[in-house]
This record gives sequence, C-alpha cells and structure tokens, in this order.
Amino acid sequence: MIPQQFIDDLLRRVDVVEIVGQHVQLKKAGANYSGLCPFHTEKSPSFTVSPSKQFYHCFGCGAHGTALGFLIEHLGLPFPQAVEDLARRVGLEVPRQAPVADPEVRKRESDQRARLKDCLLQAARFYQRRLKDSSQAIDYLKGRGLSGEIAVRYHLGYAPEAWQSLQSVFSDYQSRDLLDAGLVIDGESDRRYDRFRDRIMFPILSSRGEVLGFGARTLGTDEPKYLNSPETPVFSKGFELYGVFEARQSIRESRQVWVVEGYMDVVALAQHGLGHVVATLGTATTAQHLQQLLRLSDRVVFMFDGDAAGRRAAARAMETALPFASEQNRIDFAFLPEEHDPDSFVRAHGAEALRDWASKAMPLSAWMLEVASSGQSLEIAEGRAAAVTEVRRLLSLMAAGPLRNQIALEAARRLDASDLAKDSSPAFVRNDVKPRGASPSGASVPPGSRFTRPVIRPLGERLLQIVVREPGWARRVDDQARAALDDPQSALLSWIQQRIPKEGSVNFAMLHEAALAEGRERGSEAVRFFIRLAQPDAALDTLSENTQLLREEFNLTLVRLKLRVLEDQAAELADQAASSANARAQLQRVRETIQQLKAQPPNSEEDFQA
Ligand code: UTP
Ligand code: MN
Repeated sequence: MIPQQFIDDLLRRVDVVEIVGQHVQLKKAGANYSGLCPFHTEKSPSFTVSPSKQFYHCFGCGAHGTALGFLIEHLGLPFPQAVEDLARRVGLEVPRQAPVADPEVRKRESDQRARLKDCLLQAARFYQRRLKDSSQAIDYLKGRGLSGEIAVRYHLGYAPEAWQSLQSVFSDYQSRDLLDAGLVIDGESDRRYDRFRDRIMFPILSSRGEVLGFGARTLGTDEPKYLNSPETPVFSKGFELYGVFEARQSIRESRQVWVVEGYMDVVALAQHGLGHVVATLGTATTAQHLQQLLRLSDRVVFMFDGDAAGRRAAARAMETALPFASEQNRIDFAFLPEEHDPDSFVRAHGAEALRDWASKAMPLSAWMLEVASSGQSLEIAEGRAAAVTEVRRLLSLMAAGPLRNQIALEAARRLDASDLAKDSSPAFVRNDVKPRGASPSGASVPPGSRFTRPVIRPLGERLLQIVVREPGWARRVDDQARAALDDPQSALLSWIQQRIPKEGSVNFAMLHEAALAEGRERGSEAVRFFIRLAQPDAALDTLSENTQLLREEFNLTLVRLKLRVLEDQAAELADQAASSANARAQLQRVRETIQQLKAQPPNSEEDFQA
C-alpha cells in the first residue's frame, strides 16, 4: 500500500509534459503540447498534454491520464512499479503505508502468484508440445477449420489421456502449487491426478500475456463439453476475457472489439481474419469485463446467439453496460440467426457476411428500449406504464448526460410518456436556457413546483465540472450555494474538500489518481461522479487554459446557482407574504441579498486568495 498523500506529493513534483515527452515527440500548441498518440496509430496528432491540468488526452482514441497513468498504460508497468519509477525520477523514496495486510503476508501472496503463473506456463507449453504429436487432436482442430498458424497464435494444446501426464513436467508432482494453480485434483486417499485429460487446451492469458488458466474442450461428447480452471489466486472468471492478449493489435487497428460467448468462436473468427474478438468465460459479462473492454476500444459489439438464452444473456449484458454507456463510446448488440453461433456463421457465410451482420447490430439504446417493453402490450395504457417504469429504472443506472437524455426522449416518444422527456429535456441539460418560471412550452409554472429544482441541477453540475478542474476553488462553494446541489453533487464536493490540504495545493491530476485508487477498491458514488465530470469537455477545457476566463465562468455559475435558490425562496415567500408579516420580512431580506448578488461584480480577485 502506497499512501495517497505520497502520490499527491509525487504528482505535485513531476511534470507530465516531461514524462510523456520522453516517449512521445511533443510540440507546443497554444497552452498545450501535442504529438502523435502512442496508444493508437495515427498520421496527424490528436494527442495533447496539458501542463496546467497535468493530464494527457487523445481525441482520437480517448486514452487519458496523469503522468502516473501514462507509465502504467504506455510502459505496461504495474501500479506500484510506476510509482517507484516516477519517484526515482524526482529523487523521492516511496514510503510504505502502515500495512493493512502484513507486508510479509503480501509478499508471500505475490510470490505464490508468481509461482502459480510459472506452473501454468510450463503446463501450457507441455500441452502445446503434446498437440504436435496427437494426430487425433490435430484432426479435431482441422475438422473445425483451424490452421496450424491459428493454433500457434492462440497457443492451443492437447492434454493427453493419461491420469498423471504432468508428472513428466514438474519435478515435484505433489507440490501444493499445482493444486492451487488448478492443474491437479486430490482424489480419494490423496491420490492426485491431472484435472485436464484428453482435451483440447485453450490457455487463458492475462492482458499482459501471462497464462492464468485454461478452458478445455472434450474431443468427443463427454460432459462437461468444456472444463475450465477453477477460481485460483491468479484466475477469476469475472475479470478475465479469453483472447484479449492475442486480439490487442487487431482491436487497435479495427478500432473495435467484438465479444462472443465461446472459445471456439474466438479462434474460428481469428481464422477468418477477424482477430478483434474476445470471449467471456462461460459467465455473464461483469462490470470488470466492461471496464476492460472500454479501455481496449470505445466501440464494443456484443454478439449473441439469436435464441431465447442469447437474448436473456444480452439483456443482462445491457444492464451491466448501462453505467458505462455514454456519448463517448458505442456499445452494440448483434443477434445471430437462431441456428448459428459466430463460429458456425463465419464458416457458413464468411467473414464479410459477419462484418455486415455486426455493422447492423442494435445500438444499446434500441436494445434497452426493446428489453424494457418486451412482454408488454404497448397498445394499452397498462402496458405502456409498465414499460415506462422499467425504462425509468434502467435510465437510473446510467450517468446523466447527452446519451441518457436522448434515450429518455426516444422512450418518451415511443411510449407516449411526456413525463419521461421532461426530466431530461435538452433544455434541462443545456444549462437552463429557459428563464425560471417558464416551462419549455412558454406557459408559466407555479413557483416551487418540481420545475424549479431540475433546472438547478445542471448549474450545480457545471460548477462541479469547474471545481474538478480547479479543486482549490471548492473552498468558495459556501453553504448557500451548497444548498442548491443535489446529493451526488454535494457528496462529490465533500470528497474534493476533504482532499484539499491545509497547506499546499491539490490539482486535477492528484484528484484523478485518488479517484482511480478508490475506484479500484469499491468506488463510492462521489468517485464515479468525479470520473464522469473529469471527462474531457472541449468547451470547458479550452476555457480552463485561461484561468481568468475559467474564474469568470465559475463566479457566474456560483452566482446563478445562488440566485436560483434565492429566487425560489422569494417566490415561495411571496405566496405567504399576504398572510404573514414574518414572511414579508424574510422576503425583504431575500430580495436584498438578490440585489447584492446581482450588483456584485462577477469576478472579485480577493475571493480567490483563500
Ligand atoms: P457453447 O456450448 O456455446 O460452446 O458454450 P461453443 O463455444 O459453441 O463450443 P463448440 O462450438 O461446441 O466447441 C459457450 C461457452 O460456454 C462455456 C465455455 O466458455 C464455452 O466456450 N461452457 C460451455 C463451459 O464453460 N462449459 C460447458 O460445458 C459448456
Ligand atoms: Mn460453437
């Protein structure tokens, strides 16, 4: 465990421009630096590094992060090593936190993981060698249309029929590691035998190419058809995707990743020149899978069988994907004809036909609406109401933003549910273009009605978007302004305020690393909200190159936010003023405050000295 404070300290001292500049040729372009993106192939630079934010971002592929993130992503360093590396560059020593877990235990565990991976690698090599001399296994793979080249690329192997073949590989067949790696099973009276026998072996590699486990298919009709490694200290089905390592290059080139259900589908598609394909390991798609997929590419196509089971799996995957969906990525769902899986489809119709099929996949929005209304009779009010309820639930899983609003609008049109549209009308998102008290249609709305609050929400979000970029300004959000924030906004503000040190400063990059660190563990709502607000915003990011302009925007937003609250109060008090002297007095005070706020120049410098 490395203390977060040290990471802050480190990020305060390093310069992202210098770190990135050691690996990418950068040219000054305005306030930023730009160059050719190291994370994808491009001819003209869309990769920028911002010295003020201490952050890099590629407008082409979406890669982004801090100096630390760069070392992790670009050099493939694990987090602690990247910290070490960075610390060395600025001459700092990495302190180790008072251990949550005993360092000796941690060391033992990481040593164990290294040993298990080594066992798995040796086993994989052994299975690969055995494939070469099993004509039966070779014939099986040939029969399924696979070439030797693809078998090599995916390190396919064959586990011989004998009970203890691995005895020839490991000097100590009784070692605990073989059991922990899931390679052997201890049977009755401790008779140990190989888990995988007489099966085609599909090694499952980590994204760095380490062997973590295996999928193993019978050559015949044995049950189960596929036997998989159990969960081990190095292998967890919910985290790993089959074929990620082998697919990296193709994913980068094709700028998309397809997700299928089977090992065989992955290799069969690769055989047909479709290398950008990965598979889940016989389990539902998890949030971790999605996260990894979206790191690989911002275009993900799920390919499901066209039968009922496929549609059920697709509905689950859709729900898992909702929190990650945004206008920055594209997640599609393709359904194959009922008689096919991707393997049989590509063998019957070829790669072009499958590409065509994938290009006609349903976007997440369409699939979501279909799932929400499935089984409902939309001709009757009851059916539409049930669908609306489900749409609302699904929308609540999404981050607020243009995509969610568009889906809400679309659902509102299709289900005749204007109330769905109201919560997320474009006006509502585009920072309250309508004056308060007027509904989008121009009709007057009673004060204090549900219309007033939603209008404030985007203002609060705007304010926080700025605070995220200039965390020190969080100090200036006083209780009055805070009262206008909704719960997630307020939680995020507290989260940021807690990270402002008494002395010294905190910048965007530090917050970003802190959010990622927490996100790795569980990630509170505030952290997820932070990560969303931290997304590049072209208009705002241009503005933030000029601190003066950003200050003005911040002040203006703060004032507007306060005015909104005060005007709400004034409207309510005005209603009561006729009957209550107290209300009249309060109203007077509120009106004075409003006058003061309006008179105050929107940018008084000393406000920022705090
Ligand atoms: P399928 O039964 O659709 O197999 O299982 P498939 O990939 O089309 O295999 P072939 O074409 O018959 O060889 C899809 C995935 O579900 C998991 C595996 O990950 C498999 O690739 N599965 C399936 C198991 O883990 N165990 C099983 O017994 C069956
Ligand atoms: Mn199949």
